[in-house]
Amino acid sequence: MINLTGNEKQWIDEIWNKIDGKMKVVAKKNMNKIPYTVDENGDFTDCATGEWPYDISWWTNGFWPGYMWLLYVGTKDEVYRQTAETAEKLLDNAFAEYGHLHHDVGFMWHISAGVNYRLTGSKPSRLRALYAADFLAARYNPVGQYIRSWNADADTDGYNKLIIDSMMNIPLLYWAAKEHDDERFKQMAINHANTVMRTHIRPDGTAHHIVEINPKTGEAMFPLGGQGYEVGSTWTRGQAWAIYGFALSYIHTGDEKYLATAKKVANAFIACAAVRDWIVPLDFRQPPEPEIYDTTAAACAACGLIEIAKVCSKYDVKNYLDAALRLLKAIDEKAADYTTDNDNLLNYCSEAYYPGRGEAGLNTAIIYGDYYYTEAIYKLKGFEPLFW
Ligand code: GLY
Repeated sequence: MINLTGNEKQWIDEIWNKIDGKMKVVAKKNMNKIPYTVDENGDFTDCATGEWPYDISWWTNGFWPGYMWLLYVGTKDEVYRQTAETAEKLLDNAFAEYGHLHHDVGFMWHISAGVNYRLTGSKPSRLRALYAADFLAARYNPVGQYIRSWNADADTDGYNKLIIDSMMNIPLLYWAAKEHDDERFKQMAINHANTVMRTHIRPDGTAHHIVEINPKTGEAMFPLGGQGYEVGSTWTRGQAWAIYGFALSYIHTGDEKYLATAKKVANAFIACAAVRDWIVPLDFRQPPEPEIYDTTAAACAACGLIEIAKVCSKYDVKNYLDAALRLLKAIDEKAADYTTDNDNLLNYCSEAYYPGRGEAGLNTAIIYGDYYYTEAIYKLKGFEPLFW
C-alpha cells in the first residue's frame, strides 16, 4: 500500500500536468507517426515509414500507442485515444514482416492493442493481441523451457540467445492464458521465468543481459555482455527489465519467488544508483569516460520499484518507494524537457554500449524512456489499470 506525503503528491500532480501540457501538442503533431527518437530539429522520427531496422517491425513500436493510452486514461482527452488507435492500425503492417518479428511482440502489442482491448473492449484489438501471443507461444522450447528471444540470423553459433528483456514480454502470455482459457500459455510463461531466474540472476543480485542456451539440450552455455559494457558487467536497462519483469510475474502468478527475485535485483540496483546520486549510467560497471547515461533504465526501474512497494510489508515499502521517487526526481531535474521545443520528453537515453560506434544511440531521446517515465507518474497518481 503506497502512501505519499502531501509534498510528494503535489510534485506528482505537477509532473503529470507538465507531461499532459506538452503531449497534447506533440500527440497532435505526430498523430500519423510511430516515433522512436528525434532528429536534429527535435522532431520525432517515424518507424511507420522508416527503413529497416527502424521500420514498422522495430521492437519499440508499441510504446507510442501505450504512452498515448496512459495519457488517455489519466485525462480522457480524445487526441490521445485517436493517436493510439492510429498507431495500432499502422502496426498491422508489422504482421506482414513476419521474418523480422521475434519475442518483442510482447512490447509491440501488449501495451498497444492489448491495452486498447482491456480499456475499450475493441474486438480487432483483442485479435491483434492474441495473434501476437500465439506467435510468442510458438517460440517456446520445451526441452530448455524458455521462449526463444531472437531469430536464426542472431543465433549464428547454433545457440539461442536468451535475453533478460524477455521478462517484459511474457505478461502477454499470462493475459492470453485467461483470454484463451488455456493454461498452457501461463505454464510457458512460468517455465520461462524459472529458466531466466536460474540462468540470468547472479549471486550478487545483478543480471546478465544474454545467456547462450543450447536449444537441443536446454543447457545454459555462457553469458554475453550484450548491450552492456562487457561480459559480467551490469547493463542498467537489463537490471530494470529484471526488476519490473519479475515483479510482473509475481503479480500474474502470486509466486513469492518472483517477488524475492525482483527485490534482490532491486536491492543491487538501489545500492548502485544511490552512490551515483540516482543518476543512472548505461552500465553500473562502465568506465567513468565517456559519460553515458540511461534514463530509460531509471524510469523502467522506478516502475518496477513502485509495483514492489505496492505489495511489500509496511516496513519495507519505504525502501522501494523512496528509491523510485529519487530516480524520478533525478530525471525531472536533469533530463526531462516539458517544453514543446522538442518532441521528446526525456534526454540521456542510450541504446547500448557499442564501442567505436560514436555518439549514435547514446545520451539521446528514445521513446520507451518517455513511456516508462510517464507510466511511473501514472502509477503514483493512482491510475489503473496496470498496462502489462
Ligand atoms: N530490448 C532491447 C533493449 O532494451 O534495448
